[in-house]
Amino acid sequence: MEEEITVLTNIIQRRRSIFPVSYTGQEVPVAVIKQILESANYAPTHKLTEPWRFIVFRNEGKIKLGKELARLYKETTPAHQFLQKKQDSIVEKAEQSSCIITLNAQLNSDKVPEWEELAALACAVQNMALTAEALKVGAYWSSPGMIADLKEYLNLGTTEKCFGLFYMGYHNEEPRAAKRTPIEEKIKWVES
Ligand SMILES: Cc1cc2nc3c(=O)[nH]c(=O)nc-3n(C[C@H](O)[C@H](O)[C@H](O)COP(=O)(O)O)c2cc1C
Repeated sequence: MEEEITVLTNIIQRRRSIFPVSYTGQEVPVAVIKQILESANYAPTHKLTEPWRFIVFRNEGKIKLGKELARLYKETTPAHQFLQKKQDSIVEKAEQSSCIITLNAQLNSDKVPEWEELAALACAVQNMALTAEALKVGAYWSSPGMIADLKEYLNLGTTEKCFGLFYMGYHNEEPRAAKRTPIEEKIKWVES
């Protein structure tokens, strides 16, 4: 059996953002979605606020979400910047995905600052991305400007905020190398 560290490192390094255009259309079963979300729940969380909240859009639900995102894009984009192609692609992405999960955080400003809740949510999302990779499900975190205006559609409470959309679907992409500069360039060592 492979060493745990080998398995973990492979999954971390192999994970890539996989976009809806590459999804096959094969449905990701609810049990698999639940398994991916279960991993989110093990993220670290300051003062145990567990701020991560998710809304899973599938079937007609994701199509309607796609249409709402497209509507918001048109509504919030100045006419001279509006692109019909871009609006169409928003709807298309929802059609191509097996599901879309909104990445929300329940903010507890009396306990911890917002950045800590967002950091905990991001840790949860990385757990999801790694679990998806291990299950051969493609996924990526999308953060279009429209998410700031989704609050009403998502029926979020006053202390809840949407930080992104997590698209998922099976795919046949070949593994591709990560584009990263060496870690050595980002580390300073202090030893005396
Ligand atoms: C917080 C966050 C927001 C992101 N938003 C977008 C996005 O709006 N559109 C997009 O194409 N990719 C988005 N990405 C994915 C990045 O483009 C991707 O992680 C980056 O290109 C590195 O590629 P990799 O994930 O395959 O390693 C986002 C990633 C993060 C962590």
